[in-house]
Amino acid sequence: MNIRTCVTSWGKQSVNFGFKSQFEDNNARVEAALHIIDTYAVVRQKSKSDDTPFRGITLLSSREIDAMRPACRLSSELLDFLTPMVVPGVSTLELNDAAEEWTQAHGATSAPLGYPGAQGAEDFPMSICTSINEVVCHGIPNKKDVLEDGDIINIDVTPLLNGYHGDSSRTFMVGEVSPKARKLVEVTKKALWKGIEAVEVGGRIGDIGAAIQAYAESEGFSVVRDFVGHGVHRTFHAEPQIPHYGVKGKGKKIRPGMVFTIEPMLNEGTHEVDLLDDKWTAVTQDGKLSAQFEHTLAVTKSGVEVLTYLPVAVAV
Ligand code: MF3
Ligand code: CO
Ligand code: CO
Repeated sequence: MNIRTCVTSWGKQSVNFGFKSQFEDNNARVEAALHIIDTYAVVRQKSKSDDTPFRGITLLSSREIDAMRPACRLSSELLDFLTPMVVPGVSTLELNDAAEEWTQAHGATSAPLGYPGAQGAEDFPMSICTSINEVVCHGIPNKKDVLEDGDIINIDVTPLLNGYHGDSSRTFMVGEVSPKARKLVEVTKKALWKGIEAVEVGGRIGDIGAAIQAYAESEGFSVVRDFVGHGVHRTFHAEPQIPHYGVKGKGKKIRPGMVFTIEPMLNEGTHEVDLLDDKWTAVTQDGKLSAQFEHTLAVTKSGVEVLTYLPVAVAV
């Protein structure tokens, strides 16, 4: 979720953020954005007696977390279902259509389909996001994008079931990929788990990004700043925002009942991204590879539960 998108779609009004020109570095820019979001959330809450307990973050009861489980399970199963289709010669449209059919057959809908675009963008026209090679995120499936041997592709799915969203993505290697691409994919997956391990009740949101960034950069990769993880429940993109870089001990406190995604995007080269003319597809500025993995997780009193991770039973 793009920070600017989140703020504008939330407020249903257009807000002019001149971050790029106002701030020298991305950290300052994102800090400023987070501050604006905080302030805005508090203002909104005053006129609303909803279930939002503080600073715009919805804390879920254990019943509500239970209600998230079927949607989260579906997102994992949908990615499993798509896995054998991810081979040279398949188009991203075929992956999309198979995902849509599978989702409907399981009584769910595809939350990305028709998702409102920000700042002049059309609503998202497809059911899943497919992001190949230098595409960082939000690639739009189409029949011309046909997978080739050596490609990497992120598939991001978000089934909506019984009013709850399950948001998860994986990057797949198509056929034989270069050692560098393989390393990027493996490091990105591990970076997500480093982030998950950093989640602790009483800790801070900044702990997550700090863990991801330290690991990613130690392996020679950069962390995308312009897209962040997000609260997810009845609302697809909610507070809190989860940057994948940052400083340990900074940010909001992590509390039981928080449900959010962690979805780091790691780049081979620069962390800077460009948006294509469709206003959705984000690509690396230098054209080098990008990979991403995403899980939805719940914070409980006893720790963290990865709702979109289904342990596989192994016969011993
Ligand atoms: N699933 C993406 C995420 O992880 C969001 C996709 S929004 C869409 O937040 F409109 F592009 F589908
Ligand atoms: Co997400
Ligand atoms: Co997602």
